[in-house]
Amino acid sequence: MTIKIHPEVDKIKSNIIENRRDFHKHPELSFKEFRTSKIVANKLKSYGLEVKTGVGKTGVTADLVGNESGSSIALRADMDALPIQETSNLEFKSINDGVMHACGHDGHTAMLLGAARVLSNYKKKIKGRVRFIFQPAEEGKGGARYMIKDNALDGMNQIYGAHLWNYQQCGTISTKAGPVMAAADMFKINIRGKGGHGAMPQGTNDTILAASQLINSLQTIISRSTNPLESAVLTVGKINGGHNFNVIADHVKLEGTTRAYTEKNREMIKQKMKNIILGIEKITGAEIELDYEDGYPPVINDDICSKNLLHSASKVVSQAGEPYLTMGGEDFSYFANEIPGCFFFIGSAPKGTKPLEVPHHCSHFNIDEDALAIGSSAFVQLIEDLLIVN
Ligand code: NI
Repeated sequence: MTIKIHPEVDKIKSNIIENRRDFHKHPELSFKEFRTSKIVANKLKSYGLEVKTGVGKTGVTADLVGNESGSSIALRADMDALPIQETSNLEFKSINDGVMHACGHDGHTAMLLGAARVLSNYKKKIKGRVRFIFQPAEEGKGGARYMIKDNALDGMNQIYGAHLWNYQQCGTISTKAGPVMAAADMFKINIRGKGGHGAMPQGTNDTILAASQLINSLQTIISRSTNPLESAVLTVGKINGGHNFNVIADHVKLEGTTRAYTEKNREMIKQKMKNIILGIEKITGAEIELDYEDGYPPVINDDICSKNLLHSASKVVSQAGEPYLTMGGEDFSYFANEIPGCFFFIGSAPKGTKPLEVPHHCSHFNIDEDALAIGSSAFVQLIEDLLIVN
């Protein structure tokens, strides 16, 4: 495995790590990234970039305008942390109670700041425009949508975003064309029927039986209606109901999530759920109400952008290729639905651990900080390849 850190990134490597540690120590929840975005904006201004704050509430954008005209490329990082109490022993562990950078967004912010600092010295050489997008609220609140509404993508031709990825070894960069993150939706189901005595089921609608039939039938959507070569998940993660051992329950509540890599499967799952519910209503006589909430759409990478990224990444690491995919969601999808884009993964499994050993969103989450300079190098190399023609 060979790694070639970009020489200009190498010079500021320790500063990138310092920034990441500072963000890690001061994590902020979605749309509360006040300190983070202030620091980001001040640094971007000090690099001589055209900075806009308050884009999508706490978001920041900064434009690097080249001396000659050409393409416009957006690079995106997310800034928010999670409501998790950190249990690590890091010297820069979170000082904010119950808040933690457990997904690596501290690193994303530091990597893109590093790239912005290096690229800001290339103003004379750049043909076109680079927009650095620092996004709030990726963790569930869809900050990307708010930034798009505030015109963060105006005039942009392509967008690229990265995620540090503990499921891959440090020294790898990966992506592929097509879907790379899943649609992540949520549902609640309320089942109401006529309860009664446990010894006299006649005349009742047993909602516990209806719930059992429903859960079993819902799983057939994945096993019988989904193309086995395409991935999808349906999980009922919560069930509540019943009063006593000898009472037929009049009310059961279910909660769950569905995941799919394509809009087609996402719609299919939703429609089949409705059909199955109608059927179970008919055979049980219970009333079943579905409350289905759309989460983030799937992240679908553009063919050309993915090729561009892998081409540039292969100049940084010898192992640039297929990603370790999960059914997790990412709101980068909103950007990639507007303009061609590529979301890519930077291997960051901590030193001495195997990929998957320290998962994202766990309370002792950490990364291999060597991954930060790799990420910054990938962004710098990409812009050199796309906007600097020697
Ligand atoms: Ni994340």
